[in-house]
Amino acid sequence: MTMTNGYFQSDNEQKIDILNLTSLEERAREVVPKGGFGYITEGSEDEWTLRENTSAFDHVQIVPRILTNIENPSTETEIFGVKTSMPIISAPAAAQGLAHARGELATAEGMAAAGTIMSQSTYGTTRIKDTAAAGKGAPQFFQLYMSKDWDINKAWLDEAVASGVKAIVVTVDSMLGGYREADIINNFQFPLPMDNMAQLTNDDGTGKGIAEIYAAAAQVILPSDIKRVTEYTNLPVIVKGVQDPDDAQTAIEAGVAGIWVSNHGGRQLNGGPASFDTLEAIAERVNKRVPIIFDSGVRRGSHVFKALASGADLVAIGRPIFYGLALGGAQGAQSVVEHLNDEFKIVMQLAGAQTIEDVKKAKLVRR
Ligand code: LAC
Repeated sequence: MTMTNGYFQSDNEQKIDILNLTSLEERAREVVPKGGFGYITEGSEDEWTLRENTSAFDHVQIVPRILTNIENPSTETEIFGVKTSMPIISAPAAAQGLAHARGELATAEGMAAAGTIMSQSTYGTTRIKDTAAAGKGAPQFFQLYMSKDWDINKAWLDEAVASGVKAIVVTVDSMLGGYREADIINNFQFPLPMDNMAQLTNDDGTGKGIAEIYAAAAQVILPSDIKRVTEYTNLPVIVKGVQDPDDAQTAIEAGVAGIWVSNHGGRQLNGGPASFDTLEAIAERVNKRVPIIFDSGVRRGSHVFKALASGADLVAIGRPIFYGLALGGAQGAQSVVEHLNDEFKIVMQLAGAQTIEDVKKAKLVRR
């Protein structure tokens, strides 16, 4: 264990045996201090949307196909010309130092070792360039929480571009925080500095709750801001937090290169639909004009399959990466995505699919 500002951080470093992603939560509880664990796991209000995010996958079923070649299945795919070993990437999630002393650096190493993409968060506990360096050239995305101050946005984007990130993800569903009770009960305030904030502002987030941090960020993000980020970086820009087909259309008209369907893991608007229940209609409207990344609630190989068969090109996971970090650092995070991909591969083959393209064409039924 490492102690930073009175907060105990795991320094485990090992591959972990995983029965399934859900069971990791209780194992991680033993390792992560109560305040940090509450912040990582919680949803908003009574967590209805959080629970629904995972149970919604039960609304559709996979139709297994036969008399097809399923030998040597491949889970390789690509986005924006970047190849990945699997259709599973890490979601941008704040303050990964809460789960492990090496925080985002360990995630970067783990995702690189697994051959997939890490998405960095603005509110990371390590700097953009350091996290990129830890990935040693492996593809990463940078997620922007827009500051009210465009000069700060420029500085973050400059560092992201100079670090070689492959896309910018602009999160648009978090102009304020959801009502999260675990943080109130635990009186949780970030014990660790957020290094991207520390670099450019007098406020590194230490001693603040997430609501205060969000409130200091932009509360006006319009299509013109998305255009501005695209023009400034010349990189593919993805809008994250889409739950409605009309909003996907607006984002495409603003020039986005990708749509990220997410309800922020049920941490923001409680009472909204499960993210999975919004995916099909959004994918229909997007109609393959740009790729779709999906997150919120994915815990099983069959969930990955259902998301891809409903129109997603990639899925992202957030909380399970923290559990992997807590239990095994870089190797633990690697074990998490590899386990999920192993489950996914079994589902693929049993469903009669050999490639990701086959999965995307698979039939689903709704009970
Ligand atoms: C969250 C942010 C920071 O706490 O992504 O959900």
